[in-house]
Amino acid sequence: MQDEKLTAPSALVGQLKAPGDRSITVRAVLLGAIANGDSAIRDYLVSDDTTACINCMQVLGVPIAASPRELWISGVGKHGLVAAANPLYCDSSGATSRLLAGLMAGQAFGSVLDGSPQLRKRPMRRVTEPLQLMGAQINDNNGCVPLTMTPSKLHAIDYAMPVASAQVKSSILLAGLYADGETIVREPATTRDHTERMLAACGAFALIDGPVSRLQPPDKLNPLEVNIPADFSSAAFFLVAGAVHPRAQITLTDVGVNGTRTGLLDALRMMGATIEITGYRSEGGEPVAELHVGSAALHAIEVEGDLVARMIDEFPVFAVAATQANGTTIVRNAEELRVKESNRLEGLVEELRKLGAQIEATSDGFIIQGPTRLKGAVVDGRGDHRMAMALAVAALVAEGETTITGADCVSKTYPTFFQDLNLLMG
Ligand code: S3P
Repeated sequence: MQDEKLTAPSALVGQLKAPGDRSITVRAVLLGAIANGDSAIRDYLVSDDTTACINCMQVLGVPIAASPRELWISGVGKHGLVAAANPLYCDSSGATSRLLAGLMAGQAFGSVLDGSPQLRKRPMRRVTEPLQLMGAQINDNNGCVPLTMTPSKLHAIDYAMPVASAQVKSSILLAGLYADGETIVREPATTRDHTERMLAACGAFALIDGPVSRLQPPDKLNPLEVNIPADFSSAAFFLVAGAVHPRAQITLTDVGVNGTRTGLLDALRMMGATIEITGYRSEGGEPVAELHVGSAALHAIEVEGDLVARMIDEFPVFAVAATQANGTTIVRNAEELRVKESNRLEGLVEELRKLGAQIEATSDGFIIQGPTRLKGAVVDGRGDHRMAMALAVAALVAEGETTITGADCVSKTYPTFFQDLNLLMG
């Protein structure tokens, strides 16, 4: 475990491109693997999560070659995967495990899905239940991985999800590729739609109608040729850093700005942040743009309802923004934060309090009183990449030195985070 020490810089200035989108990379690897033909995936994310996903598909017989900037996947077709001799190791990647569960449910062979101790604690019934409704035979370990799957025939379902989860939706849609009719998934709030967009890019008849996604199983999927946008959820740390630091001007290039992901942009703008968007364009069916952020006086807001799903991964860093905002920030309907890579509600309260923040947890969110002049302290990343990066952003406006223990967990989605941050520090 590695620690990082940070003190507030005099300025935060410059331009950077955050690494490729984790969600889109995982989907490109899975769909490229079962497409008919060769896919080229440029600017993909190289990180622990995506490495786990790539390894799983290689073990399933898919030839994949990688350079630091490009992945070449020789798709084996929908029915070309081969059984793995050992459990498929998803490491700590929730997206890999849940999406792969859907993909494996439709195979003519059995498989076992497993992962790290962190993944073994995360809820899987949210995917095994709908997959079982489709006819999948799955044994779980008290609702968690390892999952043991035996081959079965799948039928299409029309499923209303009890939780807003893109991973659950995507798992069902991937299983739907092997089902006997139209699969329909209804969500309580609109979640990221990368799977639907990529299925359409592969030539499948995938439709999104607000919170309803539909898929007709295609005979085959066309290979992909895509440039993966920079991950909005990684750029998010610099959006907040730029907004809260008193002398900041940061440009983030090639950022994916799919509206199902950019809730933090809306929240920061509501708080008074100055964020300009330029160069809006579409790449591989995903909207991309440059984001420019500068220092601003922020005020408190209330976040609830649909906005929560659109910024679900951004609450750790949003909480840091809230500590610098004038007034009482209230987050509701965000109980999902308890089952992310760590219990983020508990972690935010315990770690931000060490820095002097006035924060309390509620049953479904948190309340922060601001603004607070944070004070450097020893804080813990809790093995959770987004907690570690959010605490680093808090350190940028804290008085004195902050030590983040276990900071190397950023390798899950952003291995070069601290180097990139360094480039901006004046
Ligand atoms: C993801 C969906 C979200 C998100 C996660 C990535 C995805 O999880 O928090 O980081 O790639 O589909 P849930 O589906 O659990 O909300």
